[in-house]
Amino acid sequence: MNRSLSLEFSRVTEAAAIAAHAWIGRGDKNAADDAAVKAMRYMLNRIHMDGEIIIGEGEIDEAPMLYIGEKVGSGIGEQITIAVDPIDGTRMTALGQSGALAVLAAGGRNTFIKAPDMYMEKLVVNGEAKGMIDLNLPIEQNLRRVASRKGKLMSELVVMVLAKPRHDEVIKQIQALGAKVLAIPDGDVAASVQVCLPDSEADVLYGIGGAPEGVITAAAVRALGGDMQARLIPRNQVKGDTPENIQLAKSEIARCHEMGVKVNEILHLEDIARDDNLVFMATGVTHGDLLQGIQIKGSFATTETLMIRGQSHTIRRIQSMHYLDGKDPDLYKSIGL
Ligand code: FBP
Repeated sequence: MNRSLSLEFSRVTEAAAIAAHAWIGRGDKNAADDAAVKAMRYMLNRIHMDGEIIIGEGEIDEAPMLYIGEKVGSGIGEQITIAVDPIDGTRMTALGQSGALAVLAAGGRNTFIKAPDMYMEKLVVNGEAKGMIDLNLPIEQNLRRVASRKGKLMSELVVMVLAKPRHDEVIKQIQALGAKVLAIPDGDVAASVQVCLPDSEADVLYGIGGAPEGVITAAAVRALGGDMQARLIPRNQVKGDTPENIQLAKSEIARCHEMGVKVNEILHLEDIARDDNLVFMATGVTHGDLLQGIQIKGSFATTETLMIRGQSHTIRRIQSMHYLDGKDPDLYKSIGL
């Protein structure tokens, strides 16, 4: 993907973040997501590319926009596949909590794995600990290996985990080993990126989150030279064996079969993000450790975007001021500002 095409995607996450701004702290996560989806789709369709959504808001029958398989862009130009999460942290946005992002990853025709919207177990480290993780081993052994490679004591190791009831046990286990746990309410994309950034305080991201977020994460991890292993997990194994979860798990497994991926099997970073022809883009929605949130003052919206290119490994922070009175009428109609 050429450099100028990569940059185009910054407009996409910026527009999604601007659209979500009106919904920060309003208690309506679906409205926040809808606004971001519309803005993202509108901007994607303005890019000269032959684009296809491979990770989106769901399957065609459940998502009117940005569904898996939806064609985006002008239809002319490079073949690009795109994994989007218009807001990673919809609940955080609705509650006005910090750390919500508008994110996407774009790559070539075969860059990303195709996986359904289900759960994924993820283990992420930065380049220093590359080659030291193995999801087949207990978390204790993984942490010891990472600590020894990084020349750290266990008490110096910092592990980020989603603060979900399913992780209560593993959090206690990690703390009992002497490591520090940073438990985050939502948003494992931002946490994974933080782990892989140079000079990060955090060493490891571990836990079960969304598979779409996992694919987008893999793009960033690859571009940052980090390492990741993952495993697709059927819903009943995460949320319990209720009849509904068992039914959902069956359809997830069937969908995996159609897409050529297996559940409960280890996926290496190179299986998820297969080449360097990719770009990761994230714009802050609410203020967080990774990015500043969107601010609207008078006629200007200020956004901060993190752009990481796979080919060059460049990490760019783009601060933009968007003049709202000079707005493109169509965009702002589409995002409802
Ligand atoms: P959304 O805002 O897109 O729902 O994602 C928030 C998030 O915390 C992700 O970062 C994480 O991967 C996933 O949800 C975990 O799923 P669940 O909320 O079902 O535990």
